[in-house]
Amino acid sequence: MKFFVDTADTSEISELNALGLLDGVTTNPSLILKSGRDILEVTKEICGIVDGPVSAEVAATEYDQMMREADVLSKIADNICIKVPLTFDGLKACKAITGDGRMVNVTLCFSANQALLAAKAGATFISPFVGRIDDTGEDGMELIAEIRTIYDNYDFDTEILTASVRTVNHVKQAALIGSDVATVPPAILKQLVKHPLTDKGLDAFLADWAKTGQKIA
Ligand code: E4P
Repeated sequence: MKFFVDTADTSEISELNALGLLDGVTTNPSLILKSGRDILEVTKEICGIVDGPVSAEVAATEYDQMMREADVLSKIADNICIKVPLTFDGLKACKAITGDGRMVNVTLCFSANQALLAAKAGATFISPFVGRIDDTGEDGMELIAEIRTIYDNYDFDTEILTASVRTVNHVKQAALIGSDVATVPPAILKQLVKHPLTDKGLDAFLADWAKTGQKIA
């Protein structure tokens, strides 16, 4: 499973990229607001840090304006992936943009039928929001499993990008189901390495090593 990081914070992106953990980045209007930076400037910087797809979201809701915004965002860098909402205008824009050979991430997906439409519109990625579904009392991961089945039934190339990830368990479940990608907030990505028995075991090994009085290098 590929890891994207869900942030517009360039220091976090640089740190995780240096660990060799990143396959891409997702942003959205809320994350741009949080960064406090200009969308074009910060997105260009992010595209220079990572090699993989960097999702940048249009702000328009109407097709013609979406296409104008997509053209501006596409000029930022070759690894830009245009993010459009899961509406009929968004799906129409998805078809047109992917038809030009550009990547599209269809966002705000909350049902299997929406994901089916996005695949038929040629989406590069579909973003089902598991955390926001969990917030309603439903199970967001069930949606990932349903989309996996539907896409496999018809050999759709659209990649499932599990989004709105809130816990390390979401990451594990996404990988078990066979999600192609998970976009994960930096803090959750960093938690993935943690296990108390790893820390305890390392402490014991270091203590015993010190008692040997040896050096390897
Ligand atoms: C990613 O593409 C989404 O915009 C993001 O994962 C949404 O996460 P949230 O529900 O935590 O805002």
